[in-house]
Amino acid sequence: MQRIPEPELMDDEGQARAYAEADFEEPNRRFAELYTEFVGTLRPGAAVLDLGCGPGDITLRIAAAHPEIEIHGLDGSAAMLAFGHAALAARPELATRVSFIEGLVPDAVLPCARYEAVLSNSLLHHLHQPETLWRMVRDRARPGAPVLVMDLMRPADEAAAQALVDEYAGGEPEVLRRDFYNSLLAAFEPGEVRRQLELAGLGGLEVLPVSDRHLLVRGRA
Ligand SMILES: C[S@@+](CC[C@H](N)C(=O)[O-])C[C@H]1O[C@@H](n2cnc3c(N)ncnc32)[C@H](O)[C@@H]1O
Repeated sequence: MQRIPEPELMDDEGQARAYAEADFEEPNRRFAELYTEFVGTLRPGAAVLDLGCGPGDITLRIAAAHPEIEIHGLDGSAAMLAFGHAALAARPELATRVSFIEGLVPDAVLPCARYEAVLSNSLLHHLHQPETLWRMVRDRARPGAPVLVMDLMRPADEAAAQALVDEYAGGEPEVLRRDFYNSLLAAFEPGEVRRQLELAGLGGLEVLPVSDRHLLVRGRA
């Protein structure tokens, strides 16, 4: 099946609310666990970058689990970041170590030139030019820094995409089911991601299918 891109930014208020209020407990907890397994404990004060952080649930989970880091979440959607700011306001103990920044991959102005780890969950499939994510990873990760990117994986056909929506988002609001379906059609296959990485000079990162709908990119910059 050919890839069908979807709009990059999730900047519609209703769409952002549906996403922020959806139950991503299981995948978000899993991503935070992967961070702990793969990145581990960084030096005190190390800065970590979360690209396409959306409402910031993963950003906050990682900040809470790793008191040694500060973490910068970047997103181009003010509607999404409003939920991140609200969630951060409810966690004042994290306030000095978490920043949410409105800006676009790849040209956003960031507080640090280089980061000790670069993360992203569910951003890649939104990008019309996926090479912009890899360029930002290459330019913003300190050499040798851990890189952890999770994304959806494009299914074989539209029927398979619909079956995944029914299985994993059966009880979710229609706006979320539609977004999930469109995101599956916009996602990349593992071979496509490997080619993107080669072209970006990041061929040392590995690409692993990790579920029936997710792939993981990990390695060192
Ligand atoms: C599916 S959400 C994922 C949010 C979060 N990482 C999570 O896992 O819950 C994708 C996010 O990427 C953002 N986004 C898409 N294209 C972007 C770009 N070029 N620059 C910055 N953010 C972008 C969208 O606005 C949206 O908030």
